[in-house]
Amino acid sequence: MHYFKYKGKTLFCENISVAKLMDKYGTPLFIYSQKTILDHFNKLKKAFSSIDALICYSVKVNSNICILNLLTKKGSGLDIVSGGELFLAKQVGCPGKKIVYASVGKTDKEIKDAINYEILMFNVESIPELKRMNRIARQLKKKPKVALRFNPNVDAKTHKYITTGKKENKFGMDEETVKKLILNNQDYSYLDIVGLHMHIGSQITQSSPYINAIKNAARLINFLKKQGIALKYLNIGGGLGIIYDKEKPQTAKAFAKKVLPLLKKLKLKIILEPGRFIVGNAGILASKVTYVKETRTKKFIIVDAAMNDLLRPSLYGAYHNIMPVVKSANNKQKSIKKADVVGPICESGDFLGKDRLINVEESEGIAVFAAGAYAFSMSSNYNSRPRAAEVLVRGSRDYLIRKRETYKDLINKEIIV
Ligand code: LLP
Repeated sequence: MHYFKYKGKTLFCENISVAKLMDKYGTPLFIYSQKTILDHFNKLKKAFSSIDALICYSVKVNSNICILNLLTKKGSGLDIVSGGELFLAKQVGCPGKKIVYASVGKTDKEIKDAINYEILMFNVESIPELKRMNRIARQLKKKPKVALRFNPNVDAKTHKYITTGKKENKFGMDEETVKKLILNNQDYSYLDIVGLHMHIGSQITQSSPYINAIKNAARLINFLKKQGIALKYLNIGGGLGIIYDKEKPQTAKAFAKKVLPLLKKLKLKIILEPGRFIVGNAGILASKVTYVKETRTKKFIIVDAAMNDLLRPSLYGAYHNIMPVVKSANNKQKSIKKADVVGPICESGDFLGKDRLINVEESEGIAVFAAGAYAFSMSSNYNSRPRAAEVLVRGSRDYLIRKRETYKDLINKEIIV
């Protein structure tokens, strides 16, 4: 479900025409629908309301502080992966007790800052990290809470770059290692090991990988219980998939129905770290056609957005639906030729879509759908392209939530010597 809909031939975000926003703010432009974001958050919250669950929105997915502020004000916690994300969490006043922190490479400074902010817990990914954290906690005379990131060795059935719960991935620790660490925790007396964390991958459309992972975690939790160690938390990570093309992802309700029976038996506090599910289809990337170029073999629609704005097609071969912002009268004609929708960047890998049946002319607008997640947050200045602006729509009102970068921004941090 999302609130980008055509009224007649014109695409709207909630009650505002996308074409109007493009005129007002220029292109390329990220446009987000607040109602869509909150709908997804509320659906997930409701689906897990029968247990003691905390939703920690995953900051990396879309880290605009307006969106973080919106979600934290609705009671969401935050899942962070860096000192920068801790800074953002503080900026929006997210209380430490609602922050969880994963990452295989937390530095001393990052660990120290997060301990001082008294975050809910660290998701620790290795023995060296655990040792380092124990040392820092001792110096600070604090006892931070820790969950061990358990790698359950399950196949999330998603793109290999975003599969994170198989034994060959760099994330987490295997069952034996976790068991040993928890049973022999005397070396970590400054850490309070309170739970397990998992995150098996992203854009997962089926429930079976979660079920397998939770079953593996449950085996471990129950084993520890028999040894007299009662964990308090299980963090099942994020990963819920959305529709980009023809996927049939799980609804929040269907997902909850599958995993709740397993989770209820554990009687632990549950943490979820969704990202894409909440913001993915709450955003589009609006762009303008610069040229239509036809070669002897191909047609190219060259637009003013590029791989620096939306890297997913180039990096993962990801599919994003692309539609005209205003459908032209002859759009349904059979004569439409397939075209690659490409940016102006100096690489053949710079495309937003391949072989698309879309009929747009020079200076008309296109909308790249499902650009709310891992889009702006993965954008760059490649080819010295200033980053796009971001706009939030709330019913009939629009708000600039990130200014378009200027040429000056490109050199702000540079020094000629
Ligand atoms: N928790 C942890 C520990 C994570 O590493 C991630 C994502 C999430 C939660 C949120 O996952 P989500 O609910 O959004 O699936 N750039 C890729 C996706 C990378 C995922 C990284 N980790 C893409 O564009 O598809």
